[in-house]
Amino acid sequence: YRRRRERLLALNKEAARFFHETLKSPSGGAGAEYLFGRRGLSKGTVTRFGLGMAPDGWDNLIQAMGAKGFSKRELLDAGLAVDSKKGRIYDRFRNRVIFPIIDLRGEVIGFGGRVLDDSTPKYLNSPDTPVYNKSRNLFALNIARKSKQGRIILTEGYMDTISLHQAGFDCAVASLGTSLTQEHAQLLSRYTKEAIIAYDGDGAGVKAAQRAIPILEQTGIQVRVLRVTGAKDPDEFIKTYGPEAFGRLLNQSENHIEYRLRQIAAQYDLSDDQQKVEYLRSAAEMLSTLPSPVEREVYGVRVAQQTGLSADTMAREVQQAYSRRF
Ligand code: UTP
Ligand code: MN
Ligand code: MN
Ligand code: MN
Ligand code: MN
Repeated sequence: YRRRRERLLALNKEAARFFHETLKSPSGGAGAEYLFGRRGLSKGTVTRFGLGMAPDGWDNLIQAMGAKGFSKRELLDAGLAVDSKKGRIYDRFRNRVIFPIIDLRGEVIGFGGRVLDDSTPKYLNSPDTPVYNKSRNLFALNIARKSKQGRIILTEGYMDTISLHQAGFDCAVASLGTSLTQEHAQLLSRYTKEAIIAYDGDGAGVKAAQRAIPILEQTGIQVRVLRVTGAKDPDEFIKTYGPEAFGRLLNQSENHIEYRLRQIAAQYDLSDDQQKVEYLRSAAEMLSTLPSPVEREVYGVRVAQQTGLSADTMAREVQQAYSRRF
């Protein structure tokens, strides 16, 4: 069993090397054009992340790995090849730029591959294998855990994380095409006390953030939520507005209380007095669940100021909501 794992890891490492060499060779020209040109990555970034290119063709990787002594069975087990119904096998990743997924020991455990155009599926990922479980691994945590920035920035995608690193935010990681799991959160809590969720600004990203918040909080991690505005995701934001502007978004990111208050406020029309009353009740209800009296007061005052209420009245409302539950 142990030997089988070691063989698969050795195969993954050789495959990553093959993809990386292909990117540097003439046959990888389209991939290089894509990563350096369209996506604006530097040589240093491509090297640091070991990015690569899977050639166009049915069995380039299978042939190259076969020459290194790896069997078709091993290529299938590693998720690098797939079976056709007719008993033939072919490369899973073809004509895609390749993102190796590396674990905390530095082992290549899986891959993502992106098309160079608008065709679908946009990304292909390794399936779960004896060495890769997507619920337990985060892209770039191997680098981010050494960051001195004292927090983790959690993104949705490969390119978001890579762009952030290139822009100097070396604490970015991604949970790839899967929602954040308790195992991800546990893993993160070993390396950081604070996580900033920087998901895409679309509805799916907002929903995913709402789901991720309690999962992270359960591990004791302090959660902040960054809102990407004026761009689809952190990668596009940095391309459009630059690293300093992203730094400002980080500084403006909301802690969990601010975030929840804004979610509640969004449900009401605050220009309508009756709805404002409803908002204040819901906000007081939420604030009354906070364990810290200092937090209850600080955010109570803030809500009061926002709505033109006196701080005393708001404090009484929070107090009443608190009493109702006991
Ligand atoms: P997005 O659709 O937001 O893509 O998916 P992206 O990361 O911004 O990609 P670019 O910028 O167009 O290259 C977020 C993440 O969801 C996973 C990938 O991990 C992706 O980075 N995903 C997305 C898939 O696994 N498969 C897909 O077809 C699409
Ligand atoms: Mn997304
Ligand atoms: Mn998306
Ligand atoms: Mn993107
Ligand atoms: Mn995106």
